[in-house]
Amino acid sequence: MSIFGFHYRLESKAIGLVLGIVLVASIGGLVEIAPLFTIHRTVEDAPDMRLYTPLELAGRNIYIREGCYACHSQMIRTLRDEVDRYGPYSLAVESKYDHPMLWGSKRTGPDLARIGEKYSDQWQVAHLINPRDVVPVSVMPAYDWLLSTDLRTDDLSAHLKAQRAVGVPYTDDMIANAAPDAYGQANPDSARAEGVTKRYGKATTVRPFDGLPGRLTEMDAVVAYLQVLGRLTDAARKPVAQAGAVQ
Ligand code: HEC
Repeated sequence: MSIFGFHYRLESKAIGLVLGIVLVASIGGLVEIAPLFTIHRTVEDAPDMRLYTPLELAGRNIYIREGCYACHSQMIRTLRDEVDRYGPYSLAVESKYDHPMLWGSKRTGPDLARIGEKYSDQWQVAHLINPRDVVPVSVMPAYDWLLSTDLRTDDLSAHLKAQRAVGVPYTDDMIANAAPDAYGQANPDSARAEGVTKRYGKATTVRPFDGLPGRLTEMDAVVAYLQVLGRLTDAARKPVAQAGAVQ
């Protein structure tokens, strides 16, 4: 019996044809779904991974609002030239708390996945006020209003809560103190600074990011965010086995 003979007979039997369709259609589903069952073996774990602080999260929101992602990717690929230029290639675990993720592929400007602490805060502020002051040939737009705009903090608790709804483990304490923590992180001499390291760990940077202590601006938030990119965990700088991957 030829394969066409079999098919003609199958087409005349409604139930058989439906079962056949389900069988064939499920192959595509299986190919897509089956790898997810073993994903814990391919995605590393990073026990030292810390959360974005409210100030860094606010900076991330401004980064999205201003469309920075339209020119900057945040994913270093496993290619020699990328690793030579930007540093260790990005690991999946490093985007664990990124909702939405900002990997991107459009690079009018350089990748920013490991920009954290590459430059001083002063450089970042000067660059955002007018990129051409520090990189004369830059085509990046100026964002000078970030320095003169006070950061809105009354909605930060809600932002943390929304992140928790999608799996970021913010505690009730963190959510309740989101606004004071944002102020404290950018004002090391204030009474509110202590709570930030208490809640988010000693590795958290507490400094006047925009150079204006006593004020909390959108510039504080964006620079705090840029300075933590690639620094939430050390996993990428360790050999994979030590980064917590299940062998
Ligand atoms: C129109 C495209 C464009 C947009 C939008 C843009 N940038 Fe850039 N960016 C560039 C280009 C081009 C460079 C490289 C020249 C330079 O350093 O200014 C750059 C460089 C940078 C650098 C330095 C990177 C390095 O490794 O030297 C940082 C940090 C940066 N941008 C942050 C931002 C932030 C934050 C925003 C949003 C507020 C933003 N960019 C929006 C094009 C853009």
